[in-house]
Amino acid sequence: MNPIFRNSQPMIRFSCIALAAATVLTIPQDAIRTNGKNVAGDNAVPGTLPLDTIKKMIAEKDAHTPITITAPDGLNELGARVPADNPATKAKIELGRQLYFDPRLSKDLTVSCATCHNPTKGYSDAQPTSTGISGQRGGRSAPTVMNRALAPVQFWDGRAASLEAQALGPIGNPIEMGFSPSDAAARIAGIEGYKIQFDKVFGGPPTPDFIAKAIATFERTVLSGASPYDYYQAAEPFRGGPDADESADEKSRRLKILADEKAHPLSEAAARGMKLFFNKAQCNLCHAGENLSDEQYHNLGIGFDKAKPDGGREDFTKKDEDRGKFRTPTLRNIKETAPYMHDGSLKSLKEVVEHYNKGGIDNKWLSRDKIRKLELTETEIADVVAFLEQGLQGIVTKVDVPKLP
Ligand code: HEC
Ligand code: HEC
Repeated sequence: MNPIFRNSQPMIRFSCIALAAATVLTIPQDAIRTNGKNVAGDNAVPGTLPLDTIKKMIAEKDAHTPITITAPDGLNELGARVPADNPATKAKIELGRQLYFDPRLSKDLTVSCATCHNPTKGYSDAQPTSTGISGQRGGRSAPTVMNRALAPVQFWDGRAASLEAQALGPIGNPIEMGFSPSDAAARIAGIEGYKIQFDKVFGGPPTPDFIAKAIATFERTVLSGASPYDYYQAAEPFRGGPDADESADEKSRRLKILADEKAHPLSEAAARGMKLFFNKAQCNLCHAGENLSDEQYHNLGIGFDKAKPDGGREDFTKKDEDRGKFRTPTLRNIKETAPYMHDGSLKSLKEVVEHYNKGGIDNKWLSRDKIRKLELTETEIADVVAFLEQGLQGIVTKVDVPKLP
């Protein structure tokens, strides 16, 4: 246990996960449920973190020891998905948390990452499309930052190859934070409390590269898992009772898994919805695996009823076959991030399932191999929605708004 981090709660406490152990960052399984009631807001307030607190924090020796970010139940460990040149340390996660909430990364000091990816709103912004500096509205919906550590590429069209590469995009985007990464780095470098943290964490003054690495490291701790669906899946192999030759260890493991499932039950409607999701509704053709995403691109016809549909993946690959295709998003904690789709055009999960039920919106590029009329009844639609809302509602890393240098 790290006394500096502990004693200064909640001031420089980063997600309580980091407090759990000196070398292993553990997500407490039941201590933290967001359920839309997380305490964090959006921007943090500059000048609220005293220099001597920062000095004590970065002087802690295990603050700079590489740590393993432990994934919650239901997810695979991050392992090699953490880049070798950017290992996580407690001090780096904390620095990234500060930057994530710091409006000084935007030109006019009004917008931080948390403005559009707000922990109290499922790490999104509850808007159809996002609003950046000077009230400017972009054309796409802010995806959640949850579980982005699990994904090989970033953005709706997959144009960023890593979280590090992604992080500088919004700072430089004229309608998001409206700055340039080098001007942002220069501003951060002028703040003593940041300068000394970058020095200890990266061995040099703030640069766009170091800012991106710190923010990406913080984002890797924002994980969602441990949903009723995960516990149901874990218990599946044990439904038939114990093996005849079950050892004592195997027995205690089996009983633990069954007890976990009992503590996080799927509702009856969600259980019916889960069966539909994997069969008649065929959602699993694209929403599969630990993050309920195949990480592929598909055209569901979203926006094709409008005058100028977003080109989607085609804007990046320049290939006609990619027109209107978007990356399959996660469905974890999905009830927290309405409205839905890349343009926020569907207001509720019921509208989403109805969109699939009618076979999407027809267009030349529709992913016809996987999108077709489903013939779900009203009750079946409600059951699929129950699975999305209750079955996939898990435990997300709790993140408090930090104090800032
Ligand atoms: C003005 C609102 C806004 C701000 C500010 C903003 N973002 Fe975003 N973010 C978006 C939108 C919109 C997208 C989707 C854009 C796209 O895919 O073309 C996005 C995409 C992302 C993604 C990719 C998610 C995915 O599913 O692929 C990550 C990660 C992310 N932002 C992190 C950040 C970080 C870190 C910051 C601060 C440096 C930040 N964002 C600032 C609106 C914003
Ligand atoms: C062909 C692949 C495919 C199938 C099948 C599919 N999805 Fe999707 N899903 C996607 C893609 C791609 C998007 C994003 C599309 C866009 O924004 O244009 C998406 C978006 C969503 C969203 C909105 C997520 C968000 O963050 O806005 C939900 C909810 C969803 N799907 C649920 C389902 C359900 C439920 C089913 C089964 C009835 C299903 N999907 C079937 C690929 C698929």
